[in-house]
Amino acid sequence: MIKHFLSITDLTAKEIWQVFALAKRQSKPVLKGKSLAMIFEKPSLRTRLSFEIAMTQLGGHGVYLGPSDIGLEKRESVGDVARVTSSMADMIMARVFKHETVEKLAEYATVPVINGLSDLEHPCQALADLFTIWEIKAKIKGLKIAFVGDGENNVAHSLCLGATMLGATFACGSPKGFWMNKQIVAQAKKFGKVIETVDPKEAAADADIVVTDTWISMGDTDKEKRIKIFKKYQVNQKLMKYAKKDAIFMHCLPAHRGEEVTADVIDGPQSVVFQEAENRLHVQKALLVHLLSPDML
Ligand code: CP
Ligand code: NVA
Repeated sequence: MIKHFLSITDLTAKEIWQVFALAKRQSKPVLKGKSLAMIFEKPSLRTRLSFEIAMTQLGGHGVYLGPSDIGLEKRESVGDVARVTSSMADMIMARVFKHETVEKLAEYATVPVINGLSDLEHPCQALADLFTIWEIKAKIKGLKIAFVGDGENNVAHSLCLGATMLGATFACGSPKGFWMNKQIVAQAKKFGKVIETVDPKEAAADADIVVTDTWISMGDTDKEKRIKIFKKYQVNQKLMKYAKKDAIFMHCLPAHRGEEVTADVIDGPQSVVFQEAENRLHVQKALLVHLLSPDML
């Protein structure tokens, strides 16, 4: 059966730990001659860089297809793109606007499809985030992860699911109308504890990890309005004081200093954002091997 990675829940908790065990140890060119087609409807630094370099380091090749190359659903249907791409590439990674687009790619593809970010989830980011937490805290179970800001957000959704799958508590502090997707929350509550609040201090209280993301995700409109709505949800020194003394700060990047986070926090001693960014490469190398050759794990 083809393994896709559209949601963090497409891996079991056991498989996530297997991927983590392989990350940073995966140096042999086990994907020699293999190709990953990378479809982008939106811009990217980390996702493109990490997947392309991952394929190079594994002995394979990444083919970049930018927004003007394909024209998903404009120049060609998603189904036809999936079938043609599958006939040549060994895997597909896609960054899309609508989550249904990755689902449709997976429906028609005959090779694994990886979600490189949709409006609903950013599962590769959650893998790297959880791996980083494990590297620093030496455990995940029992920790409190606090996400403060826009809860209706791909990064928050995948991290909420992944964190609860691995036994952490996930707290989300967001203004009314910007809480996490109800289905995601219901799914995560089956795995573990989820706290939702409008109070950023309550979310951050005694947290081991404080996370935020941009207030204006790719595709969002009304920038000025959103900045006003989220103003009280900025991660600054004052808010970090509610978290544990040894709490770390995380952000998937790109960041907007002075909006969702102050420069003294993201560039300060508690921040681990560049270790987090680098880990995209390490965990994705392990993920690619897992999806294509699970026997190598
Ligand atoms: N964090 C992340 O996915 O970064 P890019 O948008 O630059 O790929
Ligand atoms: N939530 C952000 C993540 C960027 C990596 C976005 O979708 O733009």
